[in-house]
Amino acid sequence: MTDILHVYNSKGGVGKSSLSWVIGTTLAKHLEAAESSEKVLIIDLDIQKNISTCLVKNPDEIEYSLSDIFINGTAPEKAIVNVSDNLDLLPSEGDLDSVTNYLSTITMGREFQFKEKLESFLKENYRIVVIDYPPNINLLTLNALIVSEEACHVVVPVELSFLSLAGAVQVEEQLNKIRKYNLNRNIGIDYVCIVKDNISRSNHAKISQSEIEGRFQEKILKNTLKQSIDIPNAMVSKSTNLWDYDPDTKAGDFVNELVVELWQKMNANS
Ligand SMILES: Nc1ncnc2c1ncn2[C@@H]1O[C@H](COP(=O)(O)OP(=O)(O)OP(=O)(O)O)[C@@H](O)[C@H]1O
Ligand SMILES: [Mg+2]
Repeated sequence: MTDILHVYNSKGGVGKSSLSWVIGTTLAKHLEAAESSEKVLIIDLDIQKNISTCLVKNPDEIEYSLSDIFINGTAPEKAIVNVSDNLDLLPSEGDLDSVTNYLSTITMGREFQFKEKLESFLKENYRIVVIDYPPNINLLTLNALIVSEEACHVVVPVELSFLSLAGAVQVEEQLNKIRKYNLNRNIGIDYVCIVKDNISRSNHAKISQSEIEGRFQEKILKNTLKQSIDIPNAMVSKSTNLWDYDPDTKAGDFVNELVVELWQKMNANS
């Protein structure tokens, strides 16, 4: 079975790419430690290509990317970049806007192109697929959100701020519409992850926290992704995971606890 984890909030800069990186690279490390042959795939769906920049050591390695799969009919396996034993990346490179434009020219089934081109490839090759979204919904992101109804999970990263909460509420409305029109009958917010969490919480953060708890209740993961400079440092140094950057990283314990909690809940809900 392949779990598909959509990491999405319509608020920009909230921590989607960092959370995607943390989840994908940590799960891959756990699989490696268990000497498993199962693999994690991270898909970069953002035109900013942040996660591709962080995971690809040598940009020349990117011969094909997501846009080639749609526009030129390139086979998905040709676009995959291997990052480590248990981790692959489907990179974003070139102009993702052109994919959205291309999709809009299709008369029949424009929403289902991602499903048609990628669903069976993902299910044949990966145990978990983590998709890093841009902060806006468009035809390409809609395509990705409906790639599969099975083992479909949505995690929304939220900072303890009103605007971040507003983004999560917007996501809820967008996913409601996807269900309403039967594009993906199983999609909805499954988990809310508090990110960039700081021990010294401002009043604004405390009020936002109680609003977020009131709205999302048991969907909120118990563990948070705390603020730690090790996370951006590991990402920009193109490390394969946090421990590859620093074996004694102070972020290791809370990252492990968060990822294990999420993984257990995903398995219970699949
Ligand atoms: N847990 C964390 N600790 C420290 N810094 C963090 C953490 N999470 C995110 N950041 C920083 O916050 C900024 C925004 O994070 P990120 O790029 O992951 O957000 P995003 O939601 O993907 O943004 P966009 O909407 O532009 O795609 C970055 O500078 C990142 O390094
Ligand atoms: Mg991002």
